[in-house]
Amino acid sequence: MTTLSVLVIGSGLAGLVAAVRATDAGHHVVLVTKAALPESNTRYAQGGIAAALFPDDSVRTHIRDTLRAGSGLCSPAAVRILCSEGPARVRDLIRFGVDFDRDESGVSRGLEAAHSRSRVVHAGGDATGAVVENALVATARQRAAQPNARLQILEHTMLTDLAVTDGRVTGVRIVQGGKPGTLAADVVVLATGGGGMLYRHTTNPAVATGDGLAAAWRAGASVADLEFYQFHPTALAVPGTPLVSEAVRGEGAVLLTRAGDRFMITEHPDAELAPRDVVARGIARQMAAQSGEPVVLDATALGRELLERRFPTITAACRAAGLDWARQPIPVAPAAHYWMGGIVTDIWGRSTLPGLYAVGEVARTGAHGANRLASNSLLEAAVFADRAVRALASEPGRTAGTTATLVPTPTAPPTAPSTAPSASAATPGLRGALQDLMWQSAGVHRSGAGLATAVQTLAGWSAAAAPRTVAEHEDRNLLDLARITVAAALERQESRGAHHRADFPDPRAELAVSSAWTIAAATPH
Ligand code: SIN
Repeated sequence: MTTLSVLVIGSGLAGLVAAVRATDAGHHVVLVTKAALPESNTRYAQGGIAAALFPDDSVRTHIRDTLRAGSGLCSPAAVRILCSEGPARVRDLIRFGVDFDRDESGVSRGLEAAHSRSRVVHAGGDATGAVVENALVATARQRAAQPNARLQILEHTMLTDLAVTDGRVTGVRIVQGGKPGTLAADVVVLATGGGGMLYRHTTNPAVATGDGLAAAWRAGASVADLEFYQFHPTALAVPGTPLVSEAVRGEGAVLLTRAGDRFMITEHPDAELAPRDVVARGIARQMAAQSGEPVVLDATALGRELLERRFPTITAACRAAGLDWARQPIPVAPAAHYWMGGIVTDIWGRSTLPGLYAVGEVARTGAHGANRLASNSLLEAAVFADRAVRALASEPGRTAGTTATLVPTPTAPPTAPSTAPSASAATPGLRGALQDLMWQSAGVHRSGAGLATAVQTLAGWSAAAAPRTVAEHEDRNLLDLARITVAAALERQESRGAHHRADFPDPRAELAVSSAWTIAAATPH
């Protein structure tokens, strides 16, 4: 086997699995992450990991539920791989030290929206992401601490752009401690997660600024399905919008209007357990009818003992907001949660650019289609990170056996072509204005007129022409991604899954295909 130098960018589940597995496969790996190693979207995942692990379930049933939620836009091959390899990857996580919750019948499981079986395994009650992240961080740190370690970890180091030589990705540009530099490697694996910071309200942490997706786009990789952004129906409607897991509704909590009426029963036969996009739209509609006031989630019937044992994270978030959810319904509203779109990959995590892989939320494998099934995201990260590492065996090695090396850049790094007009000064207050614009025009409800205005408005805004700080680089990424997202949403003249337009309220059979975009064409193809 050829020994490669591999750069893994991002330290959520996908990045950590890729880094540990590639190290164990004999490659030399540098794991680069923008903040401290444990900070990532994974850390905040609550519900759990969906997999066909139980006798009353089957891979075939999990496939059917995933395809149904994806509203005709899933890649059947990717879904088949996700659901059939998922159980083995969950067992791998147990070997990495993840201690899933148990009850008298074995590993315990929860029900979430649009699943026809209880199949969501969880840990720490509702702290699944944190438990998974901690186990993988410990594993990665242990690999990095070994004598002659093949894994090196660079924290507080931000990817700014990809380096491309003769059409092949050969490394990355970074900023570290305020200074630019480059890292060269045989292969780059992007695992940079999503871009919740595009929106005013999000369940994502501040690091979720779409850095890998924007860099891949600028380097010429194909991206697809960016118009499909999933809004979680129930974030606690307090500053910071903490997630209130769908598993709470799976346990029997109900959504009520301000006046105390159950409104989801008139929206869908499955009421509160309808697919996530349906519930998010139902809540948004109800909020509009009550002058923007959040609806409430009533979990009081579940009882204090169950709420505190099964949902300690949400109990703590409620308490911090001065709410006692065992006694009173809590205010909830939709928030940006997960990007179905991303860097186009094949079933091995390979992007359209040689030398570049993408795994986890940053990738568009086709496993989620237009609307991801709840708790399929950690599963996808584990399954496709594992496959990407297996695919490395077929990569040509050029720097064989050497660790990727950091080369400081004495002057500002050359920037790849950006969609931002380079000569103009940065728009003051860009990030806040962009988040408001995206929330209003490319949020739960969209219209052609609103999207067209957003395209015009974004065309007039500029990020820093020569970004230097982390925040400036993030703003450039958010602006690039906002532009492609609204363009893609305007282009898709139908409603499907998470993309809902008032002017085209129904799906159109002829549009049941992904639209991929590249910077070269700046149009769908
Ligand atoms: C949740 O716990 O509701 C979120 C799980 C997910 O996003 O799949």
